[in-house]
Amino acid sequence: MTRRLAAGNWKMNGTMASLSEITALANAHPAPGVDILICPPATLLAEAARIAAGSAVMIGAQDCHPAAAGAHTGDISAPMLADAGARAVILGHSERRADHGETSALVAEKARAAHAAGLLAVICLGETLAEREAAQTLAVVAEQLRLSLPDTAGAANTVLAYEPVWAIGTGLTPSPAQIAEVHGVLRAHLADRLGAQEAGALRLLYGGSVKPANASEIFAIADVDGALVGGASLRADDFSPIIAALASA
Ligand code: 13P
Repeated sequence: MTRRLAAGNWKMNGTMASLSEITALANAHPAPGVDILICPPATLLAEAARIAAGSAVMIGAQDCHPAAAGAHTGDISAPMLADAGARAVILGHSERRADHGETSALVAEKARAAHAAGLLAVICLGETLAEREAAQTLAVVAEQLRLSLPDTAGAANTVLAYEPVWAIGTGLTPSPAQIAEVHGVLRAHLADRLGAQEAGALRLLYGGSVKPANASEIFAIADVDGALVGGASLRADDFSPIIAALASA
């Protein structure tokens, strides 16, 4: 059976003092069948990786540049992330698509670079509220999937995260039926592209206002293999019950 994944995206939050949260997660009892990933800001990557070494916690980044090196002031490449101890990288988060104008084509380039560097690519997609209200959700996510997934993608090096933009940081979540519908469509498109077996093994995460209080309900939904958690991943006391809910799902 596919290992589930509890992933935390710290976004632009956290200083050296926050590393104690990673220490707490690394020292916790292992959760059977669950991979744990924490993606702190780039400033904390190397130290976070040092703290998490040998534990069940993987450390990941939140973005990378498509090139391996060069004249790109302020950017960080996938090989640099791997060198700092990252094992994964979040790509195409809606905040990067919105704040930095990232297109799905660029996300695919970045994912290809992540794969070349041996990183797990956590590729994000999801509709806006206007798109959902216009009944475009399934078409939007299918198109994002088609364009954001590079031809290097497979179950071993790629995770998809469905994050409805209107559910991020709002306390709102789609109904279980709405999540199941989107995940089912994503799985079907993956099967067309990769074959049924590979598509079945590629992990589909839900993200957007996942909290200890709603985690069990979300993890019971078909085709949900884990979560990408923002605010509730910042403190081990909040993230640990989400990990536990996934282990018992
Ligand atoms: P919240 O869990 O804070 O809603 O954020 C979700 C998210 O964007 C994770 O990438």
